[in-house]
Amino acid sequence: MEAIKKLKPPKTPPKEVEAITKNVEVKKNEFWGWCVLASFLALLVISCGVYTLVKLFPNFLPHNKPGPNRPGPIARNYADALGIAFQFFDVQRSGKLVNNRISWRGDSALRDGSDRNLDLSKGLYDAGDNVKFGFPMAFTATLLSWAILEYGERMAAVEQLGQAQDSLKWITDFLINAHPSPNELYVQVGDPDLDHECWERPEGMSERRPAAQVNASFPGSDVAAEVAAAMASASLVFKKIDPDYSFTLRTNAEELFAFADLYRGAYSVSIPQVKKFYNSTGYGDELLWAASWLYYATRDPSYLKYLTVINGDVFGNWGDPSWFSWDDKHAGTQVLLARMNFLGEKDGISPDENAKLQMYTRMAQATMCTLLPGSPSATSSRTAGGLIWVSEWNALQYSLAATFLAVLYSDYMATSQVQTLFCDGTTFSSKDLRHFAITQVRN
Ligand SMILES: *[C@@H]1O[C@H](CO)[C@@H](O)[C@H](O)[C@H]1NC(C)=O
Ligand SMILES: *[C@@H]1O[C@H](CO)[C@@H](O)[C@H](O)[C@H]1NC(C)=O
Repeated sequence: MEAIKKLKPPKTPPKEVEAITKNVEVKKNEFWGWCVLASFLALLVISCGVYTLVKLFPNFLPHNKPGPNRPGPIARNYADALGIAFQFFDVQRSGKLVNNRISWRGDSALRDGSDRNLDLSKGLYDAGDNVKFGFPMAFTATLLSWAILEYGERMAAVEQLGQAQDSLKWITDFLINAHPSPNELYVQVGDPDLDHECWERPEGMSERRPAAQVNASFPGSDVAAEVAAAMASASLVFKKIDPDYSFTLRTNAEELFAFADLYRGAYSVSIPQVKKFYNSTGYGDELLWAASWLYYATRDPSYLKYLTVINGDVFGNWGDPSWFSWDDKHAGTQVLLARMNFLGEKDGISPDENAKLQMYTRMAQATMCTLLPGSPSATSSRTAGGLIWVSEWNALQYSLAATFLAVLYSDYMATSQVQTLFCDGTTFSSKDLRHFAITQVRN
C-alpha cells in the first residue's frame, strides 16, 4: 500500500446549502446533531478504559483468542460526562414521550405519518430544527449499536446501559414503521425549508409535516442500506433481551438490503430536496457497511461473499482512505471487518474471500497509521495542538469519528494480543492508538 500523506478531505457540503441558507446559524445546525453524537461516542470509548472484548458481540462470531486485558477502574469524570451526553438522545425525542427525563420536553409530532396511515411519530429531531432526517438518524443508530455491542458491559457498570438501549429503540421503532412494504422506506419527515422559517419548539409547531419516501421507481440505496445497517446491528443488541424485536429488526434489515441492492440509486437524486441538507455522495460504501452488519447479524455466507468477492473491488476504494462520517462509511466498514481478522472465527471462508478481508484490514491499518502523529503516513489535517481538523463543517465530527475507530482498533489489537501496528517501517502499539484517542478528547 502506498504511503498516504493526507487523507482525502471529506466531500464538503454542497454549495446549494450556502446559496439557499441565508442564516449561518441554521447552516451550522444541519450538522450539529452528528457532532453531539460523535462527542458522546468519544467520551464513551475513553471512559471504557482498556477493556477485554472477549464477551462482546455476545451473539456474534465466537472468539477463540481471549485477551489479557481487564477493564480498568471507572474514571468518574468520564462516566459523569457520558451520563450528561446521553441526555442528548432524550432531548431530541419526537413523539409521545415515555419516562421523560427532560423537564422542558413534552409530546410532539404525534400525527407524523398519519397522512400515509403510518405512525412516524417517534425517532429523533436532527438538532437545531424539528426535521427528522432518516439518513443521519439511521447512522446514529448504527453507531450507538456498535458502541453498545462492544462496550455495553462498561455502560452497565456506570448504569447507562438501559438508557443506551432505550435511546436506540426510540430510533429503531421509527425505522421499522418507516418501512411499510418491501420496496418502500420513508426517509424524512418534515419540510426543512418551512421548518427553518420558524424558530420554535417541536411541542408547538403547526407546519405541514410531509413524509418523503424512496421506492422502486425513486430508489435510495444509500439511505435504505444505512437503515438496514442500523436494524442489523440493533438486532444484535436486542437478541438476548427481546428476541421477537430482534427478529423483526433482522427481517426488516434483510428486506431493505435487498431493496437497496436491487434498485440502485442515490437518494439525493431521487429526492433532490435532500441535497441541501444531507446529500449522500455515493451508495457503494453503505452497501458494504450494511452487508457487513448483516453478516454479523445473520452469519449468512451470502453477505460475506457480497462484500468480498462480489463487491469488494467494486465499492471498496482500496488505497484511498477516507474520513468516517454520516456520508462515508468506508473506514467504519474496514475496522468492523478487521475485527473478524483480529477476533473472529474464519471457518468456512474461502481463500478468495479471505484475501478481500485482508484488503479491508490493510485499509483499516492504513487509516490508523494516518491518525498517529508520529507515523510516516500521518495526516496533515490537524491543528497545531494536534486535533484532527478536516473541514469547518462541524469540525469535531471527523476527529471524534476517527477517535471511535482508533479506540476500537486499539482494543481489537489488545484483545487478540497483536503487539504491533506497522506504519511504513515505524511500529506502534495498541497503547499508542489509545493515547492518540485521549489527546483528541482531553486537550
Ligand atoms: C416513490 O417515491 C417518489 C419520491 O419520493 C414519490 O414521488 C412517488 O410518489 C413514490 N411512488 C409511490 C407509488 O408512492
Ligand atoms: C450529492 O449527491 C449526488 C448523488 O450521490 C452526487 O452525485 C453529488 O456529487 C453530490 N453533491 C455534492 C456537492 O457532494
